[in-house]
Amino acid sequence: MGCGNGHFLAAYCADHPEVAYLGVELKSKRCLKAVQKIERRGLKRAFILQAAAEQVLEALPDSSVDRYHIYFPDPWPKARHRRRRFLRGENLAHLRRTLRPGGELAFATDFLDYFLQAKLLCILEPGLELLPAGPGRDIFISVYGEFLAKKGRTVHALAARRLGP
Ligand SMILES: C[S@@+](CC[C@H](N)C(=O)[O-])C[C@H]1O[C@@H](n2cnc3c(N)ncnc32)[C@H](O)[C@@H]1O
Repeated sequence: MGCGNGHFLAAYCADHPEVAYLGVELKSKRCLKAVQKIERRGLKRAFILQAAAEQVLEALPDSSVDRYHIYFPDPWPKARHRRRRFLRGENLAHLRRTLRPGGELAFATDFLDYFLQAKLLCILEPGLELLPAGPGRDIFISVYGEFLAKKGRTVHALAARRLGP
């Protein structure tokens, strides 16, 4: 969700050719770059949708997704803008609903308060359990992950799993 120019998506799909992957991105130029990466690598199971991730979430059927990757979503650091953050209550309920049982969501940010907010929401969301380890090194193949690692910034990450049927 918010796949940017598809850096992570293309690398991940090349490493996991068995996975069908949908990247959702608002900005058309970034979508175009992501599509070019997919074509260059000949990835047959990767797709890009230009859309608001919130709308896609609402439209997805129950239990239809194995894994969400939500890396470095816009942080909306000002207090009055925080309700615009992608990982908020109503979106998390849709993330949980659309994950298959046992499916996971992975999240990373360099904003500590966003991380703490996301962690608390995952703990409070019925039917989700926080996993002891986050998404691991995967996040550093996203553009922002690479950039932040080079700058020595601390990246906070978590993963949560959908419980039960
Ligand atoms: C900070 S960038 C991170 C890009 C990528 N995930 C990465 O880690 O390199 C956030 C991306 O989310 C996109 N975005 C923001 N709000 C969105 C929304 N509601 N739906 C889909 N994409 C969104 C932005 O256009 C931008 O490309």
